Amino acid sequence: MKNHRVLSTEKYLRSLYVSNPLREPIIKTAISQLGLPLGSCGLDIGCGIGLYSLLLAEAAGSNGHIVGIDTNEEFLEKACSFASDKRLGNRVTFKKADASKLPFQDNTFDWACSMDFIGYGNQDPISLLKEAARVVKPGGLVFILIWSSQMLLSGYPLLEARLNATSSGVAPFKATMPPELHFMRALGWFHQIGFVEPIFRTFVSNISVPLSSEMRIALTELFQMRWGETHLEVSPEDWTEYQRLCHPDSPNFILNVPEYCAFITYSLFYGKVF
Ligand SMILES: C[S@@+](CC[C@H](N)C(=O)[O-])C[C@H]1O[C@@H](n2cnc3c(N)ncnc32)[C@H](O)[C@@H]1O
Repeated sequence: MKNHRVLSTEKYLRSLYVSNPLREPIIKTAISQLGLPLGSCGLDIGCGIGLYSLLLAEAAGSNGHIVGIDTNEEFLEKACSFASDKRLGNRVTFKKADASKLPFQDNTFDWACSMDFIGYGNQDPISLLKEAARVVKPGGLVFILIWSSQMLLSGYPLLEARLNATSSGVAPFKATMPPELHFMRALGWFHQIGFVEPIFRTFVSNISVPLSSEMRIALTELFQMRWGETHLEVSPEDWTEYQRLCHPDSPNFILNVPEYCAFITYSLFYGKVF
């Protein structure tokens, strides 16, 4: 059991790290559009291995400071080591904390954010957003960024749709989820809490050949993460086709198609604290 837990943390950590080439450019663009004030102090909720806390630190400038919180100590250790590798250790602090009970006083931060955390999984997004708003000063921003869609199997839209209709293809969403809790209803959460002028925007990351080796690894892992365990949920024909197109040893590996291109999108929701 312990080994299983350790292994799954390792797998999770690897997925955050390896998917970075797909995610970083789009997250950087979204952050740059928000115009975070230089010298500001921000909170990154569910910071994981801290890769985007470091982007936030760069956006807040040399006089800014970011606090990244997460419940996973191994992720936080990794975050600290990335921060010192990038010589940003003095501009970022990582702390073990639960997003539902932040260990900060009211009005501590100039802004707060969550990337791929609030709006995913089974934790109530409205109470998490309320808690984020509590620790942000009036007038400060709270924003959430969420991986919202992708098209990865160029030329095979029907296969991609069927793979996406499996439980791991739609994870972490479940059929029993009330529609109001899907992230595309996040404007409703912001309104309900009383944020001023909530806004929604979607950003796209275009991926096309020639692919860097990091991008090939990221996409290969993504195929495996999304669809690699769907064999019991798809037809034998679809499973064969998945392996033919998505396995790097296959002569028909889709990333070797000379005109391969793909995209992912991130959706941003933000509002000012009342
Ligand atoms: C999908 S990861 C995203 C990590 C990071 N923001 C990123 O974009 O790479 C979600 C993170 O939320 C953290 N998390 C889950 N529940 C949490 C909670 N209640 N409080 C704080 N962090 C939590 C997980 O440990 C994980 O690191």
